[in-house]
Amino acid sequence: MPEDQNDSKTGPNHVAIIMDGNGRWAQQRGRPRLFGHHAGARRVREIVAACPDQGVKYLTIFAFSTENWKRTQSEVSGLMTLFRKYIENEAKALLKNGVRVRFIGDRIRLDDKLVSLMDELELLTADSDLVHLTVAINYGGRDEVTRAAQRLAHEVEQGRLSYKDVDAETLSGFLDTHVLPDPDLVIRTSGEARISNFLLWQSAYAEYEFIDTLWPDFTAKEFANVLANYGNRERRFGGVNA
Ligand code: FPP
Repeated sequence: MPEDQNDSKTGPNHVAIIMDGNGRWAQQRGRPRLFGHHAGARRVREIVAACPDQGVKYLTIFAFSTENWKRTQSEVSGLMTLFRKYIENEAKALLKNGVRVRFIGDRIRLDDKLVSLMDELELLTADSDLVHLTVAINYGGRDEVTRAAQRLAHEVEQGRLSYKDVDAETLSGFLDTHVLPDPDLVIRTSGEARISNFLLWQSAYAEYEFIDTLWPDFTAKEFANVLANYGNRERRFGGVNA
């Protein structure tokens, strides 16, 4: 097995999470959807903190998709404010806890204040190595591959790359995730069994867990149970195990 392919027996090195169900969680309580997103943000803190003990080195979370702009203006702006506040409030603790933060997605549509906070947090935590947290904001798998293809085509046009040298590895190098290993396990909460444009290229051989729990109810204990379940899987990466 190549070094970058994770054996399920050692637990997942890279876990990616589609944090779904905030809206329904709030609705069940007769509260506005943003109330659910705020509760969801508290779970983010708990799950990030649980990673070192669980042996999870890379955690990638889907915070806002390229399709989420279709939501009401008040929900979108409430989420953007939440991301800004989260960065401002959590920066110190993330640094102290050895968390390196990266953001993926297209920043072009995000407001300048948010983008500068994202840049600052990436810089602040650039030397941390205990947990690598990647937050996907204005992220879509197809959009990411399209942007990568554009950059790649530009390199060919400029004569810096020959089309004959383009292979999967070259394309991976142009993705937002180019410094990250592929996810071993993708978790989606809230009972929906779809991938919604998340890490399409990178999840080619990932294991999937679809959990009924709504994201604001997803505890570190349940996270540990899901990871333990991953240990019972046999990963073959298209091959045949002995
Ligand atoms: C999906 O639930 C959730 C989102 C689109 C937002 C995710 C954001 C957070 C968890 C907030 C905190 C994140 C960070 C990084 C601070 P939904 O609204 O689609 O729920 P529903 O399917 O029940 O409507």
